[in-house]
Amino acid sequence: MTHIPTTDDLSLGRRAMALLDLLAQHSDEPTRLTRLYLSAAHRRAAEATLAFMKDAGLDAHIDPLGTVVGRLEGANPEAPALLIGSHIDTVVDAGRYDGTLGVVLGIVVIEALRQLRIAPSCPIEIVAFGDEENARFPTNLSTSQAFSGRYDPAWLDGKDQDGVTLRKALAAFGGDPARIDAIKRDRARYRGYLEVHIEQGPRLEATGNPVGIVSAITGISRARMAVTGEAGHAGTVPMNIRRDALAAAAEMMVAIERTGATRLDTVATVGAAQVHPGAINVIPARVDFTLDARAPNDAVRHAMMADMIAECESVAQRRGVALSLEPFMDSPATPMDPGLIGIFERTFAALGLDPMRVASGAGHDAVAMAALCPSAMLFVRCKGGISHNPAESITVEDADVAARVLVEVVKTIVA
Ligand code: HGY
Ligand code: MN
Ligand code: MN
Repeated sequence: MTHIPTTDDLSLGRRAMALLDLLAQHSDEPTRLTRLYLSAAHRRAAEATLAFMKDAGLDAHIDPLGTVVGRLEGANPEAPALLIGSHIDTVVDAGRYDGTLGVVLGIVVIEALRQLRIAPSCPIEIVAFGDEENARFPTNLSTSQAFSGRYDPAWLDGKDQDGVTLRKALAAFGGDPARIDAIKRDRARYRGYLEVHIEQGPRLEATGNPVGIVSAITGISRARMAVTGEAGHAGTVPMNIRRDALAAAAEMMVAIERTGATRLDTVATVGAAQVHPGAINVIPARVDFTLDARAPNDAVRHAMMADMIAECESVAQRRGVALSLEPFMDSPATPMDPGLIGIFERTFAALGLDPMRVASGAGHDAVAMAALCPSAMLFVRCKGGISHNPAESITVEDADVAARVLVEVVKTIVA
């Protein structure tokens, strides 16, 4: 096993952390890290990623949907390419490792191959997707779905909370909805997709493992919900004739939480809610809220969603309010590729690592990429399992282990 010649044993980890710190500077908010799809900060981070890729010797561009793509030609340019990447968009008030770690480690691997003077037999593409969190528009992994030709044109007319359509934001970003089809990749020309990502859970830390191999990615259902009642004077409308949208939504949210908790392997979250008109002395007329429900088994997830919606409809009827829902995500539970998992396992063994398998409760672009080619993920331990939180953190040592595993796996695949 040829280890990377380095000035110190953490050179790859230090390089990754330095790139992560540079990307963390690009936020849409001055006091916290928020980088939503097609925002000004996303554009700046895409430009920065483009520069990192070009500095690493990749032929790089930003595609019509905002994905940054860097390509290193292989000895045989016609051989099926290897894809490595993740996403650079974030949630609101995010940590700096979710997504970006997989992008910068792809770039670090390219730099390490050059340092080792290893010319890959096939092309390698590094990708930085832009809409994995789906935190701005009602989409589902839109930029990576385009790679397998599954972009839904209806997404272009989806609106963010300010009423801006994805189409309009894409034009302002410098993208081009007319060239989305050109993003679609030929399945025959890709041998695999690798994504390194923080675990966003406690299992690696609990078992003392710096890295783990992802077995499968959970299934996710998402919907936008709206409860419409009747505004009224908080002081004069008797309680028994009110159609209070917020009281009704609150009862629905408790029912959602209760249903999500009925099994150990299911979760359900209401992550965002807006109350209208939102005044202290006005009975709420309308509440918009989001629903996110997950399970590793699709039949279980679909049954849970049906139960939740039935509970919400029953509350609406009893309280005399209207309920509308807009399902916008039905992402299937996705097993990772056994062949690539086997390569990870053999690499772990050669490096003296415990080949721990970890199921992912988080969604990832690897779900979309699995429709294009065999896909696999490497998880990296994160402190307390904390994520989607500015306290999200990893150590330089674990970043270095992940980089070394990825270098060895890539060397095996492109030999
Ligand atoms: O929500 C998720 O699971 C991912 O972080 N987008
Ligand atoms: Mn992520
Ligand atoms: Mn995330």
